[in-house]
Amino acid sequence: MQRIAVIPGDGIGPEVARIGVRILESFGLPLRFEWFDFGAERYLRDGTILPPGFMETLRKEFAAVYFGAVGDPRVPGNEHAKGILLAMRFELDLYINLRPCLLFDDRLTPLKGKRRADLRLTFFRENTEGLYAGIGGVFRQGTADEIAQEVEINTRRGVERICEAAFQYAGQRGLSRVCLADKANVLLFGHGLWRRVFAEVSARHPALQAKAMYVDALAMDLIRQPEAYQVIVTNNLFGDILTDLGAALTGGLGIAASGNIHPGRVSLFEPVHGSAPDIAGKGKANPLAMALSGALMLEHLGHPREAALLESAVEQQIERGARTPDLVPFLGGPAATTEQVGEELLACLSSLR
Ligand code: NAD
Ligand code: IPM
Ligand code: MN
Repeated sequence: MQRIAVIPGDGIGPEVARIGVRILESFGLPLRFEWFDFGAERYLRDGTILPPGFMETLRKEFAAVYFGAVGDPRVPGNEHAKGILLAMRFELDLYINLRPCLLFDDRLTPLKGKRRADLRLTFFRENTEGLYAGIGGVFRQGTADEIAQEVEINTRRGVERICEAAFQYAGQRGLSRVCLADKANVLLFGHGLWRRVFAEVSARHPALQAKAMYVDALAMDLIRQPEAYQVIVTNNLFGDILTDLGAALTGGLGIAASGNIHPGRVSLFEPVHGSAPDIAGKGKANPLAMALSGALMLEHLGHPREAALLESAVEQQIERGARTPDLVPFLGGPAATTEQVGEELLACLSSLR
């Protein structure tokens, strides 16, 4: 039995997590889902962000974390989100933030004339260092002489392992191109390290085409000719930004999935989107990003057949099923609720089995 920690979190997190878990349970696999109420509500009630020892329990006893979203307007500094989500990414050493941006249906891209075959991007976002390391501080705060600093951490070990993961993924999936996104023309030290290490790693994978680009040029080119890219590897902050862009090219945050992975260890799967306070509680949240994150989790847990089946069901759902309001501009109306989409997806899955 593999134990899965479910952390629905805030806003639409619980609305989509409920459906995601129902879908995963429908496979009848030896998975046990255990629910944890960490998030803004709990934090505001009793001050708990994560209880002592929780990380150790995850490490020793759980196979994965299935995560909704965190973020609540009542916690403006977002300290609980850092203490929950970023803490798990860092302390569990989940160094691969895997974010596929695949076009499930031609109609979902805002790019004129582009089709499914043109948009098959997979991002490898470094997930344990960079500007997210939390190193820095503020001095003379609130005065005219205030100084604020955040330091970008780039380690050879950290850069090498994410580049290696990106090349290996490309090789295993029969892809041919890996692109590095950096800002080595300005950030000479840290991003100079990325360039050198990327070149070293690419030399170990001579069958794959490697190209390094400046992130600003890449952001432009992803819109101009996305078909030129397959696997993109980048640092923590650029990966955060480029993957929202990638989501927008392929149907939006409502269907963008992600994995926070350390191969062979407990890993965390979550939609790319946040808690969406603007639509929370209204039945408008698209549950497909959560469902697709579940498919990534099934694959990590050693159930690739079930993962592929779930992806096919989502594809069919998008093609001809009910849709939440976020997809109506692409696919047409009427709009359905989160629950309706979830129910249909479950039915579609059972017809595929
Ligand atoms: P967001 O992703 O929550 O929302 C951005 C926009 O996308 C909103 O208009 C929202 O309605 C829409 N959207 C998001 N998910 C959707 C879904 N499943 N279906 C339909 N529409 C959806 O980003 P934000 O508004 O910038 O952030 C809100 C809060 O979430 C903040 O506190 C932020 O820090 C947090 N956040 C958390 C995570 C996470 O937990 N991984 C990720 C991003 C943002
Ligand atoms: C994401 C989110 C997070 C990030 C926030 C909520 C800390 O935007 O998962 O993309 O910046 O990584
Ligand atoms: Mn983000």
